[in-house]
Amino acid sequence: MSPFHLTRTLPGDATEAALRADVHRGLTGRPKTLPPKWFYDAHGSDLFERITELPEYYPTRAEREILLARSGAIAAATGARTLVELGSGSSDKTRHLLDALTDLRTYVPVDVSGSALTQAGQALAAERPGLDVHALIADFTAELTLPDTPGPRLVAFLGGTIGNLLPAERAAFLAAVRALLTPGDALLLGTDLVKDEEVLVRAYDDAAGVTAAFNKNVLTVINRELGADFEPGAFDHVALWDAGHEWIEMRLRSRTAQTVKVPALGLAVDFAAGEELRTEVSAKFRREGVRAELSAAALDLTHWWTDGAGRFALSLSVAR
Ligand SMILES: C[S@@+](CC[C@H](N)C(=O)[O-])C[C@H]1O[C@@H](n2cnc3c(N)ncnc32)[C@H](O)[C@@H]1O
Repeated sequence: MSPFHLTRTLPGDATEAALRADVHRGLTGRPKTLPPKWFYDAHGSDLFERITELPEYYPTRAEREILLARSGAIAAATGARTLVELGSGSSDKTRHLLDALTDLRTYVPVDVSGSALTQAGQALAAERPGLDVHALIADFTAELTLPDTPGPRLVAFLGGTIGNLLPAERAAFLAAVRALLTPGDALLLGTDLVKDEEVLVRAYDDAAGVTAAFNKNVLTVINRELGADFEPGAFDHVALWDAGHEWIEMRLRSRTAQTVKVPALGLAVDFAAGEELRTEVSAKFRREGVRAELSAAALDLTHWWTDGAGRFALSLSVAR
C-alpha cells in the first residue's frame, strides 16, 4: 500500500459560503443559472459514473480509446514524475496513463467531490505500491496550491470538463494552470468536438433518464445544504444545442408557476411556467480554437489526437 493523503484546501465552511454565494447570485440573476460544480455530491458523482456507461454518452469511450492508444507517446513526450489531474472523479481512465508513466512518483487528483476522491485515491494507493497519492479536495477554478513534488509536472484535465467553463472563465483557468507549470511541463487536455446536433443532444438527454436525474440532483443538493424546498418533479430536464456558441446547454424548465423558498439565504424565488434555469454549458471545440486558447495562455500545442470516429480530441501542450 502506497501513502494516501487527503487534503482539503478550503475549510468546509468556505465550501458552504461558496455554495451560498453561487446559489444567491444564480437564482436572483436573469436568466437564472447555477454552476455545474454543485451537481457532484456523492450521489451526483455516482450518477455521473452511470452516465459514462450510457450508450448515448460517447465522450468517455472515445477518450479512453485515445488514452489506450497514446499513453505511451504521452509518457515519452513528458517524462512526467508528477501527474496532477483536475476534476479527476473516479480516475478510471487515468489508469491507462498511470500504467504508461513509468517515471511517475506522485499522483495529485483534485476534485470538489470528497467521496469520489477518497474512493479513487484509496483504491489507487492500494493497487500501486510506490505511487504517492496526494488527493486534494479543491475547486479548480479557485487558486490551487499544489504539494511540492518532483518535476517534470503533467497536468491532466480530462472528460471534456473544460467545456463547462464559459470562454472568459476558460481563459482565466488556462492562465492559472500555466502558472502551476514551469517551462517544459505539460498539459493534457480532453476536448469534445463539434459534431452532428442529434448525436450531441442525445448524449445529454439519454433514453434511460440518467442525465435528467443528474441534472435535477443539483436541486436536491440545494434542498439539503440550504434548506430549500425545490420539488425536482416540478422541473423538466432540457438539453439543447446552441449553434452560435457551439455548446450544449442543460436546463431545468419549471412545469408551472411556482415559488421556491431558500431559507438559508432568506430567498423566495419565483419561477414562471416554462421558465428555464441553466445548470450547465458544455462547449464543443475545433482544433484551431483549442490551439489559440492554449497559446493565449503561453501553452504550445504539440500533439492532437482524436478517436477513430473523430468525436473527441486529446491534446498535449507544453508550457512556454
Ligand atoms: C464531467 S466529470 C469528469 C470526471 C472524469 N475526469 C472523467 O473524465 O470521467 C467532472 C469532474 O470534475 C469535478 N468538478 C466539477 N467542477 C469542479 C471544480 N470547480 N473544481 C474541482 N472539481 C470539479 C466533478 O466533481 C467531476 O468529478
